[in-house]
Amino acid sequence: MLIFQQSQPGRAAAAQLPMPIEAPDDLPAALLRSTPIGLPEVSELQVARHYTNLSRKNFSIDTNFYPLGSCTMKYNPRACHSLAMLPGFLNRHPSAPEALSQGFLSCMWELQEMLAEVTGMKGGVSLTPMAGAQGEFAGVAMIMAYHRQRGDHQRNEIIVPDAAHGTNPATATMCGCVVREIPTLDNGDVDVEALRGVLGPKTAGIMLTNPSTIGVFERGICEIAAMVHAAGGLLYYDGANLNAILGRVRPGDMGFDAIHMNLHKTFSTPHGGGGPGAGAVGVSERLAPFLPIPIVERVAVEAAAAAAAAPTPAHRFRLLEARDRPLSIGRLSTFAGNAGVLLRAYVYARLLGRAGMRRVAEFATLNANYLARRLAEVGFTLAYPERRASHEFIVTVQPQKKASGVTALDFSKALLDHGIHAPTNYFPLLVPECLLIEPTETESKETLDRFVEVMRQLLEDALRDPERMKGAPYSTPVRRLDDVKAARDLDLAYRAS
Ligand SMILES: Cc1ncc(COP(=O)(O)O)c(C=O)c1O
Repeated sequence: MLIFQQSQPGRAAAAQLPMPIEAPDDLPAALLRSTPIGLPEVSELQVARHYTNLSRKNFSIDTNFYPLGSCTMKYNPRACHSLAMLPGFLNRHPSAPEALSQGFLSCMWELQEMLAEVTGMKGGVSLTPMAGAQGEFAGVAMIMAYHRQRGDHQRNEIIVPDAAHGTNPATATMCGCVVREIPTLDNGDVDVEALRGVLGPKTAGIMLTNPSTIGVFERGICEIAAMVHAAGGLLYYDGANLNAILGRVRPGDMGFDAIHMNLHKTFSTPHGGGGPGAGAVGVSERLAPFLPIPIVERVAVEAAAAAAAAPTPAHRFRLLEARDRPLSIGRLSTFAGNAGVLLRAYVYARLLGRAGMRRVAEFATLNANYLARRLAEVGFTLAYPERRASHEFIVTVQPQKKASGVTALDFSKALLDHGIHAPTNYFPLLVPECLLIEPTETESKETLDRFVEVMRQLLEDALRDPERMKGAPYSTPVRRLDDVKAARDLDLAYRAS
């Protein structure tokens, strides 16, 4: 029931404040309300109960297992929230002068440095993109700016493997490029011969995800990098899912020229559908001049000035703007990016340190491989059984569909009745009836074992009572929605009857 429907005339939520609230005298009469505001009249207890119950209808990583492949729904440590919400950070106005923002800027500078180091991007990092897709846009825009700056105007083709996330071809198109799609081999690697066939004087670059969206590490990456560079193109790394390689392998060392990182996945800041996010970008030296602004710079304080200051800082931090970086592709967000998300990512990176980052990669891959093998043991079909999984893997329920008509969507919906979020389904498009499963590094063995047990039970249900499974979920606040209508024709407005 909506809170408006609980309204009773005259009921109040809070004790009356001792002073009457009066409109300030300087408000123009035309702007004053003439009708009541129309808020529900409810008691404080009703409010507390209503919103607490609403919050419990949400499915979240804090409540349940959430193995959503490619989306990395891992635990977001509370320490990151509480430190990012220290009053000094929370109350800082985004337009505050640099002199009053040195603490915040020093954290951002350190975050830039840590991300550049862990990705091997020697040209530096800009933190300003507000999502993974915007980071991709920044990356391809920088690649195009590089070619144009060298007077190379014919390069307008971006190569994208067919396994890529949809944002890759969308980004290339948004940047005015032509997308050249290349196939993935049956073993999960990029088809290098097909790549050779599309490389040429029009090649601006390639967008690669490694490990790819099918969850395997691209074994030919060094050969691919050499081929693309020899053809005059640059390499873009979709680093949305960096947790598989964090601290162990660096995209810069693989030959990539640009990368975006989904800090809202790998660096454990909260995210849900559509944000909030931060898609920091890193570049090799040749793309450094094109990084989006602002970028935080650390400047050594001159000895004389330092001596005069109290306490004596060795450095100060400043934001580099368009005047400092004339070749920059420009500004992608207001102020210096998504400050709250960036601060959480900073704390997370500092908490982990070098050794912790390696452990992230080790447990992300260990958990994925354990789960893949256990699901195979109970009867699921792995799409790439001969490959070691990275942080995620694909199961296909094509055999179950053939046997009883039960689809990947039915498995996903049925999981909800067991308190488990659906894996990503029907992506990537290469594998029919696929479930892309990412346990993440933060789940315990017991949770993974319970998931296997529930999946085993669903395999039985699919054969024993397929019609019931096609009707799942039965226990959620809403059942199956018309996905297309929900996306295209969403109507969430409340109308008083
Ligand atoms: C592989 C990959 N690339 C890019 C993106 C885009 O990131 P965002 O959703 O933050 O725009 C995602 C997000 O799901 C992804 O999984």
